[in-house]
Amino acid sequence: MKKYSYLFLVLFVFINCKNQQAITPTGLVTQKAMVVSAREEASKIGADIMAKGGNAFDAMVGTQLALAVAYPRAGNIGGGGFMVYRKNTGEVGTLDFREKAPLSAHRDMYLDSLGNVIPDMSTKGATSVGVPGSIAGIIEVHKKLGKLSLKDIFEPVIALAENGVKVTEKQAEILKGYRKTFIEVNSDSTKFASVYNAGDVIKYPALAKTLKIIQERGHDGFYKGEIAQKLAAFIQKNGGFVTEEDLARYQAVWRDPVRFNYKDLNIISMAPPSSGGVTMNQIFKMIKPYDLATFGHNSEKTIQVLTEAFRRSYADRNYYLGDPDFVEIPLDYLLKDSYLKQRMSNFSFDKATSSEAVSHGKVEVVESMETTHYSIIDADGNAVSVTTTLNGNFGSKLYCDELGFFLNNEMDDFSSKAGVPNMFGLIGAEANNIQPEKRMLSSMTPTIVEKDGKLWMVVGTPGGSTIITAVAETILNTYEFNLSMQEAVNAPRFHHQWVPDVLIFEPDGFSPELITNLKAKGYQVNIENNTIIGKVDAILVLPNGQLEGGADRRGDDKAVGF
Ligand code: GLY
Repeated sequence: MKKYSYLFLVLFVFINCKNQQAITPTGLVTQKAMVVSAREEASKIGADIMAKGGNAFDAMVGTQLALAVAYPRAGNIGGGGFMVYRKNTGEVGTLDFREKAPLSAHRDMYLDSLGNVIPDMSTKGATSVGVPGSIAGIIEVHKKLGKLSLKDIFEPVIALAENGVKVTEKQAEILKGYRKTFIEVNSDSTKFASVYNAGDVIKYPALAKTLKIIQERGHDGFYKGEIAQKLAAFIQKNGGFVTEEDLARYQAVWRDPVRFNYKDLNIISMAPPSSGGVTMNQIFKMIKPYDLATFGHNSEKTIQVLTEAFRRSYADRNYYLGDPDFVEIPLDYLLKDSYLKQRMSNFSFDKATSSEAVSHGKVEVVESMETTHYSIIDADGNAVSVTTTLNGNFGSKLYCDELGFFLNNEMDDFSSKAGVPNMFGLIGAEANNIQPEKRMLSSMTPTIVEKDGKLWMVVGTPGGSTIITAVAETILNTYEFNLSMQEAVNAPRFHHQWVPDVLIFEPDGFSPELITNLKAKGYQVNIENNTIIGKVDAILVLPNGQLEGGADRRGDDKAVGF
């Protein structure tokens, strides 16, 4: 008996110490500073800025702009995004540079006379364009937190645009895939009507010229004067709604982050108009009573607990969340322990909960991989987490040849009509209806995690509606299952978003037996579609202070540092 008690004690200590075990890094390890982004060129420009004495905020400005050059499917100056930061003093904050609806926008602008959603109007071409926020965002970050001059930060990006960027295999494939739509939206004289093959170098002289004006005149260089006039005229000539006045009125907004604890982690993420922080807060509170480390990584039980938390939190997301400057969000209620405990009370390991039992709705899912994320830590320990987007791949596909950049189709992130799904299959409600100057609800979840009060992880991903679940899984992969940062990013992912009531798995990585068991419990599983879920770019601070990068194998992503 004594022998068994001892065995149980050893087992108990082992299980409870599981998440205390040292992690062996498998990604790039650097001593001081790092940028992880969707393209090596952008990570390098960010890292070089820090090597020259710039801080993480200067690197953010350079990386954002370099992605607009090297990764035009999502990197942008014609879109928007969110930044979460943590200074080495422990001060945290967020910047909302999300696009806004133009002044002339109204609730039913994408409906026909019978009240039906007009196909393509909120997704393709000038009618889908929201007022861009990215330049306001980076200039605001630089003004409040930067160290180097705009001249020094812009210089390497302008050189990149002038000298050109090599097309990768993945990029060539995607450019070919969209070529027909580029021509349809822009005419066959547009830059992207050309066929680009892997290894070709694309130069961006028009974008370089635009960047020089912003380098010199800052915020007003984009939102007033020559660029604003040309941009508004271009959008309107193509049938869109953004005016010079819309551009002149645009401002980025500093907002308080969403902060919550999960065991000894303190998670800092984006507040509305992003749904990321609130939804992740709900997920982590709902899963807290379950011992995932004991269940095992991507085991049946872990997948069930997470799926049921995802299902319930997305139902709330879609109903309650919107732009806090326009709608009252009952955050105290949504994040209350007792409410979330009650939400999970009908969960059983024996049987899937039906989404109809959580709420109503049935839609087709359309997954896509747009948006991009980058993570930065500087040599002083300042951390920056940014997710930025044009919404769809290459946004609206509308490319302003004269100014050298794509325009977003972010208006589709509003609910054009309550109960009708957007391009991600997400159903919206009145909280996310269209109003002049309102920001559309987002899933972008740039996140920073502290462990025992110290900076531990910087993380985020693209992936539309799958962003929130991919970020949550990555954090848990390292925290609960001791995966290195690179392993956590590489690990196969799964996703559920309440409606459609389908559990999506990435191919290769989940056993047929697991899938069969989940189906037997009533889960409607989709593993056949070859969907990839997210492209996570993250940094982990190792116990010795070194940094491990996690650059997603699913893309051309790269960690660069020193
Ligand atoms: N456009 C994707 C998002 O904001 O979630």
